[in-house]
Amino acid sequence: MKFAVLLFVAGTLVAASPTNFTIASRQDPADLMIFVCDQMPEVCHNMCYGALCLNIGSALTFDNPSATDKRNRRKAAGCIESGGNRCSVRKGHAAGFQCDEYPFASSSPRGTITDRINRCVPAGENSKQGGIINAFYRASFCKGGPCDFNVEFSNAGNIAPCQMDCTDSDNEIIGPGSGTPAQDGDEADDGTDDDGGNPEPTGTSKKKRVVTGARHHYLTSSGVEIDIRGIARIGQRAVTVVARNTTLWDEQAKSHAYDDENDESQYDYMLPNLEVRDDVIIAELS
Ligand SMILES: *[C@@H]1O[C@H](CO)[C@@H](O)[C@H](O)[C@H]1NC(C)=O
Ligand SMILES: *[C@@H]1O[C@H](CO)[C@@H](O)[C@H](O)[C@H]1NC(C)=O
Repeated sequence: MKFAVLLFVAGTLVAASPTNFTIASRQDPADLMIFVCDQMPEVCHNMCYGALCLNIGSALTFDNPSATDKRNRRKAAGCIESGGNRCSVRKGHAAGFQCDEYPFASSSPRGTITDRINRCVPAGENSKQGGIINAFYRASFCKGGPCDFNVEFSNAGNIAPCQMDCTDSDNEIIGPGSGTPAQDGDEADDGTDDDGGNPEPTGTSKKKRVVTGARHHYLTSSGVEIDIRGIARIGQRAVTVVARNTTLWDEQAKSHAYDDENDESQYDYMLPNLEVRDDVIIAELS
């Protein structure tokens, strides 16, 4: 008897869903933050490697962390090291790079794997990523946070880890994890971090995990094509931030004065030039 009732309820939901998918899916917390990867290929490499190759996953929570929490997360990712991190000129790295973390310091993974990783990326790409994240956090459903979202990728066809090709770690390092908290003022003046003489973390890129799950190809309502590991739902929200004037955005990103101690609002001046496309998934392409 109970079984029959359950069947009836399930049948009703299935029948109702085609006409009502938008309302239902907008209650789904796993809205999608889409990165258009030809705008920032090196940064996308880092996100894809963490999300897909190391199975940190793409499900993140923006939890409005304090400056201290963010500093500790950057340290856990390996971006705060004695005398400047590995991407700094002080450590012999070429100029113009920054230490990029995944997950973002403003966020935590919702999955079971809590590793944080880092990669040295061109500073301009890091600034573009910051501008996009800031626009997303301020937009519609997130409203300044907190909020849950999934990071997904567009135009990432030639970035190996975005295609779940994890054969080459290519400068990806897993951070030392949470150890001693970072200290106030643990920041180098050259835009990299300095933990004031604590021992160097010994990062490793060897902990590669088994990659699972097929990639699916979807189209959003404004014509953005995205690749997703797993299944997106028709009607699911997918937010893409694109520059109105890409020349201006390149200029802004290249001259951005990065401030680790400041929150995402340091990118507010980019907002007028960024179009937030509050799309939904309209079709599965393959
Ligand atoms: C859509 O879903 C809402 C909320 O569940 C419900 O109130 C509404 O009647 C549904 N509309 C249709 C056309 O089924
Ligand atoms: C785009 O930005 C550049 C650089 O600031 C500017 O020179 C150009 O006029 C802008 N283009 C348009 C169409 O506004």
